[in-house]
Formats: sequence, structure tokens, C-alpha cells
Amino acid sequence: MSHMKGIILAGGTGSRLYPLTKVTNKHLLPVYNKPMIYYPMNTLKEAGINDILIVAGKGHAGNFLELLGSGARFGLNLSYEVQEDAGGIAQALGLAKDFAHGDKVAVILADNILENDISPAVQEFADQSAGAQIFLKAVKNPSSYGVCEIQNEKVISIEEKPKMPKSNLAVCGVYLYDTSVFDVVKNLKPSARNELEITDVNNWYLKNGNLKFSILEGFWGDCCESFDSLMEAGKLVQNSRLAGIVSS
Ligand code: G1P
Repeated sequence: MSHMKGIILAGGTGSRLYPLTKVTNKHLLPVYNKPMIYYPMNTLKEAGINDILIVAGKGHAGNFLELLGSGARFGLNLSYEVQEDAGGIAQALGLAKDFAHGDKVAVILADNILENDISPAVQEFADQSAGAQIFLKAVKNPSSYGVCEIQNEKVISIEEKPKMPKSNLAVCGVYLYDTSVFDVVKNLKPSARNELEITDVNNWYLKNGNLKFSILEGFWGDCCESFDSLMEAGKLVQNSRLAGIVSS
């Protein structure tokens, strides 16, 4: 497999989970028997990605360093970057340019928990020439996510949290990008909520004809959407192979 680097985006204030997140960063909250961020770390590790950058908000970067250190005890090589202001997921991604250093990247949001191994998709992407890949999952509440419309096995549109979703396929917080992603991010304009949106990055790849998708098998959860989603994620982990993943 050609070399890919991993980026875990762990910014954001977690206001939807107040007061749990008043002192602690949301990505350090427990999900069954491990801190939340252990799961995306494990997803990347299982996909053969060991060089990982964690992008954290200013107030919390030290907590991640204290918890995870160099990553050696997980068999990982961890680096850290600070996102000074909450400027959106794509802005946080832009901070990883030097770290990526010309390699393709697998990006994962630190609150996304995936039951299944995504190695096959990562491997295929690493070996193919250019473009981006998103992962989709059918959900009951698509309006809470990026929503993807598919026709004839092709992506037709992606909309961020639409009031009238065109499908029930949520765009999961895992993305594979080629090296042009950093130029794409640089040229983005802030959205109505004044953030650089990851959906705009994906739409750039859609327009330029290089966007692939696959449907995620197994459960997928964005744990920070609500108290219920956090509790639900814990229960799903408890009853899955993820509960048995060794943590230290
Ligand atoms: C973000 C993305 C959204 C995606 C979701 C997955 O939303 O903007 O497109 O579907 O992550 O977790 P957020 O949860 O940060 O509002």
C-alpha cells in the first residue's frame, strides 16, 4: 500500500453536551470502556495508518497529549496541532498540510465510531491515482448530517444538514483525500454559520469528477450529536468487538 497519513479532528466546543463538556473535551468523554478518541484512533490503526495528527482546540490540546503521549503504547506515531479558533472541520483539516507532506490522507472526526474495519476502502484508495472517497450510512435523522443523493451508483449531490433531505444517506465523518485537498481548503469561502465546511470540500471533488463513495457496514455513530447518541454509542460498543479492543 502506498503511504497514507491519518488526521483526527478533535476540535469543537461540544455545546450540545453541556455540562458534560464544561471542563472535559467531548472527545475524551467515556464511550463504554474507553475515551471516545480511542475509537477513531483504532479505525485508522486497523487500516494500516500509523502516522496520525490530532488537531485539537486550544484549551484542550494538552489533555490529548497527556492521555495519548507519543502514541507508542498504541503502536502509533502521534503528532499534535492546535486549532486556535473554531473555524470548522475544513479549517482544522487545512492545519494538517505540513504534516501530510504530499501524502494522501484519511481524515476522521474524533466523535465518529465505526464498528467495521475500513481497510479495504483505504487500501484501494491509497493505490488508486487521485480523488476523494466518502462513506455513507442510512440513518433515521438525515437532517442532522451531510446528506448524499445517489443515482445509478453515482453521487448526485451532497447537502449539509438540509431541512428537506434528498435521501436517508448520511455522510459519515471519515474521508479519504488526495493531496489536492489542501488547495481546495485554501480556496473555500465560509458558510452561513461562518465555518469552512467539509461538505464544500466534498462538493469540490464531486464537481471535479473524482468523488467515490461506499456504504459503511456495521454500526456508525456520531456520539456528540446528543446525550442519547452518546449513550447509544456506549451500548453499541458494549455489544460489539470494539469492547474488547485493548486499551491502556
Ligand atoms: C459533521 C459534518 C457532517 C457529517 C457529520 C458526521 O457535522 O459537517 O457533514 O455528516 O459531521 O459526524 P457535525 O456533527 O460536526 O455538525
